[in-house]
Amino acid sequence: MKAFVHEGEKLLIKDVAEPDVKDDEVKISIKVAGLNHRDLHIPKRRGNVADPLVLGSDGAGVVEMTGKNVTNVSVGDEVIINPGIGWLHQSDAPPESFEIVGMPDDGTFAEKYVVDQKYVEKKPSYLSWEEAGVLALAALTGYRALFTKGKVSPDSTVFLPGAGSGVVTYMIQFAKAIGARVIVTSRSAEKKAYARSIGADLVIDTEADWDVELQDETIDLVIESIGKATFNRSLSVLRKGGRMVTFGATTEDQVTIDIRQFFYGQYQLFGSTMGSREELRTALKFMEKHQIYPVVDKVLAFDEMENAFKYLDEAKQFGKIAVQISKDD
Ligand SMILES: NC(=O)c1ccc[n+]([C@@H]2O[C@H](COP(=O)([O-])OP(=O)(O)OC[C@H]3O[C@@H](n4cnc5c(N)ncnc54)[C@H](OP(=O)(O)O)[C@@H]3O)[C@@H](O)[C@H]2O)c1
Repeated sequence: MKAFVHEGEKLLIKDVAEPDVKDDEVKISIKVAGLNHRDLHIPKRRGNVADPLVLGSDGAGVVEMTGKNVTNVSVGDEVIINPGIGWLHQSDAPPESFEIVGMPDDGTFAEKYVVDQKYVEKKPSYLSWEEAGVLALAALTGYRALFTKGKVSPDSTVFLPGAGSGVVTYMIQFAKAIGARVIVTSRSAEKKAYARSIGADLVIDTEADWDVELQDETIDLVIESIGKATFNRSLSVLRKGGRMVTFGATTEDQVTIDIRQFFYGQYQLFGSTMGSREELRTALKFMEKHQIYPVVDKVLAFDEMENAFKYLDEAKQFGKIAVQISKDD
C-alpha cells in the first residue's frame, strides 16, 4: 500500500506492507486524513531514523476487514479513528500507557490503517468525508480544554489567541454554541475575517497591545496554545482569579513567569492534552446537536502531501488541512 512516511531525515510517499488484522482489530480503507501541528513536530523529534514511520493521527474511511472478536462495526461501515490510544474514561490526566496515533506506531497517512476496535467511532452522518477526516484530534483537544479543564459557561468571556489554529476554530464554535463571549487574535487580516464569520465576537491582531485592546473586557478564561510568543501576554489579560488552560507550544516550550504577579492575581493554570474516548463521544454528540462543522481550509491529493506540510508549517491555514487518500468509487 502507499503510505506517507518519515524515514532517514526525509518525508516521502512509499510502498509499505499492508498491516495484518488481529482478532480485536479493524482494517480501515482511509478516504481522507487530516493534518495536525503534531505531524510537523514528529520528524523533528525523531531526527535521522532509518525505520520508516507512517505519520498521521486523524482519518476517516470505510471498514474493509474485521477480526473475529470485533462487535462494534462491520465491513462497509463509515468510521473515524480516535487518535487517543489507551485513554477510555474521563480522568484528570491520561493513563501512563496513553499514546497518540502516528507515533510511536504507524499512523493514518496510508491507504489502509489497522486499529483495535475500541478506537473506531461511527462517522457523523451530517459531515462530508473531508470534514470527518480532520475531526477527531483537534475537536477532542478543544473540547477538553474548553469544557473539562476550562469549565467555560454561557456567561463567561473566553480569549483564544491564534485563530488560524485547527483546534481554535473548533473552540470558537463550541464556545459560541453555549452562548459565551469569544475573543480571538490572529496575525492575518484574512483569518480575522474568517474568525468573525464562524462566530468570534471580537477579533484583534496578535501583534497589537492586548492590555490596551482588551481594557474594557473581563476575560474569565484564556486558552493558550501558541506558547512562548504569547503566554505572558495571555496571562496579563486574564481577570484576577481567572483560569488559563495551556495545551500547546507552537512557538517554544520554555516560558518565564513572574510568580509574585501570579499568586497575587490568584490565577488558575491548567495543562490539557487531547482527551478520553468518553470526551470524544460527548464532543461528537455536542457537535451534532449544535450542527458544528469542522473548518476545512484546503483539500489536497495524497501525492501533494509535502505541499500540505509546507502550508501548515508556514501557518497559512485557517482551520484544518485535509488530504484525500483514496477517491470515491
Ligand atoms: N496537547 C495536545 O493534545 C495538543 C493537541 C492538538 C494540538 N496541540 C498543539 O497546539 C498547538 C495548536 O495546534 P494546531 O494543530 O491547532 O496548530 P495549527 O493549526 O498549526 O495553528 C497554529 C496557529 O498558531 C498561530 N501562530 C503560529 N506561530 C505564531 C507566532 N510566531 N506568533 C503568534 N501566533 C502564531 C497561528 O495563528 P494565526 O495564523 O491566526 O496567527 C497558527 O495558525 C500546536 O502547538 C500543537 O502542537 C496540542
